[in-house]
Amino acid sequence: MATDGCALNQITRAAGLAGILLALACTTSTETHEPRPFPTPFEVIAHRGASAYAPENTIPAFQKAYALGVVDVELDIQLSQDGEVILFHDSSLREKTGEIGAVRDHLASDLLEMDIGRWFDRTHPEVEQKWSGTTLCTLGEVFERFGDRFHYHIELKSDDVELTARALDQIRAHGLESRVRFTSFRFEQAERARRLAPEIPTGLLVRDAARLRREAPAPDGVTTLSLQQAEIDRARMAGIDQVGFPAEDLTPELIRYAQGRGLEIRAWRIRSDADMHRAIDLGAMGMTTNWPDRVVRELLRHKRRRTTR
Ligand code: G3P
Ligand code: CA
Repeated sequence: MATDGCALNQITRAAGLAGILLALACTTSTETHEPRPFPTPFEVIAHRGASAYAPENTIPAFQKAYALGVVDVELDIQLSQDGEVILFHDSSLREKTGEIGAVRDHLASDLLEMDIGRWFDRTHPEVEQKWSGTTLCTLGEVFERFGDRFHYHIELKSDDVELTARALDQIRAHGLESRVRFTSFRFEQAERARRLAPEIPTGLLVRDAARLRREAPAPDGVTTLSLQQAEIDRARMAGIDQVGFPAEDLTPELIRYAQGRGLEIRAWRIRSDADMHRAIDLGAMGMTTNWPDRVVRELLRHKRRRTTR
């Protein structure tokens, strides 16, 4: 793993990950299927940092992503009780830190003492490096550490009305307006981001098909595709230029519908190589993944197969 990461790092530092993927675009193929060329540029986005290798949404997860040569990272933000922008995914602190309540119930000073590394070590015994003692961090800390080395896909995780404004303060204070994209499953948050910062691109994340159906006001007789199309329509109406769907829900009809309306599609929830191939073959422009190195390695494998045929 270390050798692969190192090699990838050297390659991507020299050419840029997007450059490598672009170079592969014309030659990518496998014996079992014939993927379409990659869209340009294709975004390999380290999900909550390189979260297969270090605790999600922490400085070490972003350090790992950087060491792997990744230029796009995704992260989840919520506000602390005293208005600090904290990186954390879940609505409850319990599972990953053992603490009670939610991010919103605690002062930043307390949150920044909370250990998420113990949870990672317990749930990822296959990872050799141990992370006990790794604590939560703020958006400001991430920006200070990594600055413009990354492009940040910032997911507005809570429905706090102040969240976008506080995140924008940090983005502007660090001069990173051109290095960020807001995303959210919460339409109101995505819409608010468009209003407050029209210069920053925004993506709407769409729930999986089963949940869309469950939450539809009148699911009888309504197709999944029409529910997905409605999400695309309301995104477009709000000036949102990207929609994110789980890889397993992508279909040619859905992609055609979005692209016909000028929206990019990106994939989330990549659980297997099959998910990865599906997203790429259907024409997604990028994907979040806990294993960014695997995505690039797979592409290199495709290229080798092609050239040795
Ligand atoms: O890329 C979007 C992805 O981050 C959404 O899922 O649960 O990790 O926030 P989640
Ligand atoms: Ca997320």
